[in-house]
Amino acid sequence: MKISTVAAAAFALALIPTMSISASADDAASTAISSQGDQEKGKRLFNRCKACHNLTGTGRSRMGPNLDGLFGRNVGSYEGYKYSQAMTEADFVWTEEKLDAWLAAPRTFMPGNKMAFAGLRKEQDRKDLLAYLRTATVAAE
Ligand code: HEC
Repeated sequence: MKISTVAAAAFALALIPTMSISASADDAASTAISSQGDQEKGKRLFNRCKACHNLTGTGRSRMGPNLDGLFGRNVGSYEGYKYSQAMTEADFVWTEEKLDAWLAAPRTFMPGNKMAFAGLRKEQDRKDLLAYLRTATVAAE
């Protein structure tokens, strides 16, 4: 391969991550999934989570970590909560895309995690729940 070809290939590869970040739901700012959801329905769906999770406004964690500031938060990072080894060692930021995959099938998404929840199979349920979490995990203005 000629040097110029190598340089062009390296340049193209360097561009790919930037392009996919601006275009995909795997960016904490992207609302590509929650924008298709219904907050009111999501609030009702959260009844399945609230035995284990508190939201913004309640500083404490329950059996699961508090979900305050969830979008854009590092996985396994809520102060003072004792996570499983799997979640402690995981290394990514929660985006709508990641949350969608996690909530669909927690055990498949992250083997070894300790969240005792089978998953929300219906895609629309996950959209609705994410729409609710978008408002319930940030302080009201
Ligand atoms: C039976 C209790 C239980 C239920 C029900 C439950 N969770 Fe969890 N959740 C946990 C536990 C425990 C963890 C920590 C997992 C670990 O450390 O492996 C967790 C972790 C999480 C995390 C990762 C947070 C972080 O700090 O990285 C998210 C997001 C989450 N749960 C959302 C939900 C949502 C949304 C629901 C409802 C659809 C739900 N959970 C239902 C117990 C539960």
